Amino acid sequence: MYSLNISNVTKKFTSPTGKDFIAVDDVSLKIEPGKIYGLLGPNGAGKSTIINMISGILLPTSGTIEVLEHDVVKETELTKQMIGIVPQEIVAEMAFTVEEVLYYFGGMYGVPKHERRERIQQVLKDLELEDKIHERARTLSGGMKRRLMLAKAILHKPVFLILDEPTAGVDVSLRQKIWALVRRLNAEGTTILFTTHYLEEAEQLCESITLINHGRVIKTGKLKDIQQEFSKNVIHFELFDRNVAHLPGIKEIGVEYEMPINDLTDDMTKLTNHYRGNIKGIRSEAASLEQVFLKLTQP
Ligand SMILES: Nc1ncnc2c1ncn2[C@@H]1O[C@H](COP(=O)(O)OP(=O)(O)OP(=O)(O)O)[C@@H](O)[C@H]1O
Ligand SMILES: [Mg+2]
Repeated sequence: MYSLNISNVTKKFTSPTGKDFIAVDDVSLKIEPGKIYGLLGPNGAGKSTIINMISGILLPTSGTIEVLEHDVVKETELTKQMIGIVPQEIVAEMAFTVEEVLYYFGGMYGVPKHERRERIQQVLKDLELEDKIHERARTLSGGMKRRLMLAKAILHKPVFLILDEPTAGVDVSLRQKIWALVRRLNAEGTTILFTTHYLEEAEQLCESITLINHGRVIKTGKLKDIQQEFSKNVIHFELFDRNVAHLPGIKEIGVEYEMPINDLTDDMTKLTNHYRGNIKGIRSEAASLEQVFLKLTQP
């Protein structure tokens, strides 16, 4: 059983002039229960469109989406209760107080009346917003509004939490707090899907990612494997004496040299035979997610 099973989903938008635009193109994605999963991609890749289809705001043009084996189109009311979602845009009922907003949402998502006040206190404490409980939403700062959005999403203790760029426009300290909360909710059993532009965030939070670009999945898997796949093709080394004849294909990068690798053992032998005692240091490093991202998404 999967917490999320997206199967060959396509989303086509038709402009007023009748032109079709494919925002999501035959995307499949599976998330096992208990995971924190990252959905990555540049601006306009289709991340929010995918999330809006999971939450039932948009209908897929084709394909199916299941949350814990329930179809989000056929059983929208049920799947809505299982999901907590923090959309990318801040939408809060600005004229109401923090407590009123949460009370209303608690009701909508089935938090029993007798538990609601206590639950509100708890999430506000978790998000360090207790002292704002009687403030109107419109008077909150941007970061506080984002926390209120998060409070709304977790109030009913969803089994599956979806965060669309949860830390966009958030300061460093709040980002750390949001990460800590995400980890805690996950440790308590919540499955989490998030999108981000901060690659460091994916590296911090999740084991597996899917990278999309122009609506298509271009890479999916364990972060470690993806990094390894991208790092195994170069080796960096330093020389004592730089004034030597080089092997073909060697690039000079600052104080270092880079050698492309096809077969690690063969190429290492070639390298050490050629430079011998002149080698000061040698290293192969895991590619950062940033490098992978740029490599895969740049034209
Ligand atoms: N309602 C809509 N009507 C027409 N086109 C849309 C609509 N919603 C999204 N799109 C288009 O679909 C593409 C994907 O948009 P989406 O918001 O899913 O990207 P994203 O990956 O979330 O980007 P970002 O990182 O900037 O949030 C964009 O080209 C966007 O203009
Ligand atoms: Mg988006």
